[in-house]
Amino acid sequence: MTTLAIDTSCDETAVAVTESTKVLSNVLWSQASLHSEYGGVFPALAKRAHEERINWVIEKALKKAFPKSQLTYDQLLTTKIDAVAVTVGPGLAIALEVGIKKAKDLAQKYNKPFIPVNHVEGHLLSPLAEPKSSKSESGNSKNKISKIDINELSFPILGLVASGKHADVILIKNIGDYEILAHTIDDAVGEALDKAARMLGLGYPGGAVLEKLARNGNPKSYNLPLPMAGQEDRMEFSYSGLKTAMYKLVEQEKPLTKEKIENLAASFQEMAFKHLTRIVSRSLDTHKVKDFFLGGGVSANTELRKRLRKICNERGITIRLPYSKNLCGDNAAMIGIVAGFKLEKGEYLEPNELKNIDRVPRLKITEKI
Ligand code: KG4
Ligand code: ZN
Repeated sequence: MTTLAIDTSCDETAVAVTESTKVLSNVLWSQASLHSEYGGVFPALAKRAHEERINWVIEKALKKAFPKSQLTYDQLLTTKIDAVAVTVGPGLAIALEVGIKKAKDLAQKYNKPFIPVNHVEGHLLSPLAEPKSSKSESGNSKNKISKIDINELSFPILGLVASGKHADVILIKNIGDYEILAHTIDDAVGEALDKAARMLGLGYPGGAVLEKLARNGNPKSYNLPLPMAGQEDRMEFSYSGLKTAMYKLVEQEKPLTKEKIENLAASFQEMAFKHLTRIVSRSLDTHKVKDFFLGGGVSANTELRKRLRKICNERGITIRLPYSKNLCGDNAAMIGIVAGFKLEKGEYLEPNELKNIDRVPRLKITEKI
């Protein structure tokens, strides 16, 4: 079954074509540059940009999925696509609405099943994505990402979604059956990294820039507080204290030199990841699992990967990452993959049943859609 999947939950207009877990195309139009001057996502601007770009992104995703086909847009949708999937939450309400409206229109016009998907479930299951051809990207030899045979996975599996909006440790009891073991009580990890980057004048979103600078810095050069130190049994993430401490420190250190920025970046990232990995370690110690899934924008970070790989290796657990960094941040391929499982289970709506489908900005992964 081939799915056309759409995600407009935040600032990326994303469309993909997937066939079960295989990614036939994964197209993204990032709005990051539009929002950078606001230091965060400006919702009305996001909505307008999604509206302006969505048709172009859908066309591009279809063309990339079927590059040799001479069929028109209409013919591709009619004959090659079996279902339409879309993120209904969590995310920015007015941004989500754009994708949902488009997906509804397509499902109705081309008479296809409609599959509403949770964005966080997408990130969580993104390590299951497979490239179109086995020759395409699958990690370099050092960081080889092993292919997953879904039938061989044994549940439960532990997962971490580390993104701009989320810091969730989730127990995957089965595909579609989840328990949240830890979540954030204030900022998400990516949000904290972005705010620290902004304090250092590195622009938005700053997680990846912070990572680069941190490589040249000394993580021990500054004393920043480890969030929730000694209270890991509360199973909560909290980044607001670390953020405030960073703010004071940056003010003290001004004027900032390149060396200071590198050291501050390294020190902040050190504490942000130490907090994250401590809770993951605790979760792995209390739940017997064979596999650990890592997804979300922050999972692109090499240092975080290294630390989590070590924690997993020490426990004989296999770490599973998306095969490409394009699948770490927001994308629609992950939405198509979740939709593929739902389709198999009959969890879809007919095109005449979509009247009450609406965005759910605070949708939880444990909620039924
Ligand atoms: O998954 P995502 O695209 O959006 C949400 O669902 O939130 O994640 C975006 C987040 C941003 O905070 C960005 O700074 C962070 O992922 N990010 C990184 C890296 N690349 C993106 N954080 C740390 N290191 C990176 N290499
Ligand atoms: Zn996301």
